[in-house]
Amino acid sequence: MTLSTRIGILTVSDRASRGEYEDLGGPAIANYLAEVLDSSWAPVQRIVSDDQAGIAEAMVQMCDDEGCCLLITTGGTGPAPRDVTPEATEAVCEKMMPGFGELMRKVSLEKVPTAILSRQTAGIRGKTLIVNLPGKPRAIAECLDAVFPAIPYCIDLIV
Ligand code: MTE
Repeated sequence: MTLSTRIGILTVSDRASRGEYEDLGGPAIANYLAEVLDSSWAPVQRIVSDDQAGIAEAMVQMCDDEGCCLLITTGGTGPAPRDVTPEATEAVCEKMMPGFGELMRKVSLEKVPTAILSRQTAGIRGKTLIVNLPGKPRAIAECLDAVFPAIPYCIDLIV
């Protein structure tokens, strides 16, 4: 598969953004992409705190200024007060793609009952597909294995 452009990886975590916790989710996404994509893509990686305006600002920059065709987030999808990644995603997207969240929760529920706690979603901003993943590193491959086959086709439809 060839995606000859940039892919954004956005880790959303208060503790990782303060350097109190090693970001494991972002590197797990980068490793996953390195396995499924050829070398023509370049990752754009950021870490932000669980602040809706800050998450949205990073998303806008990665989509509009840095030209990412795909932006994958990790973290901030749960029920806690500061879990607001889905809200930031909805705020910056013109169109939501709820099937991504539905499928990821379905396959995740076969692994862990707590998958029901993730409000992960996806949406389109301009020419970028944004996909939320939970913060647990093991959730990265579990979720991406399910939805990745649809991602290149989705990107083809929006460019
Ligand atoms: N999905 C998968 N595949 N694997 C997991 O371990 N953890 C769940 C859920 N989804 C999990 C998962 C848990 S424990 C929570 S609280 C929610 O994702 C939200 O996680 P987040 O707030 O880190 O995004």
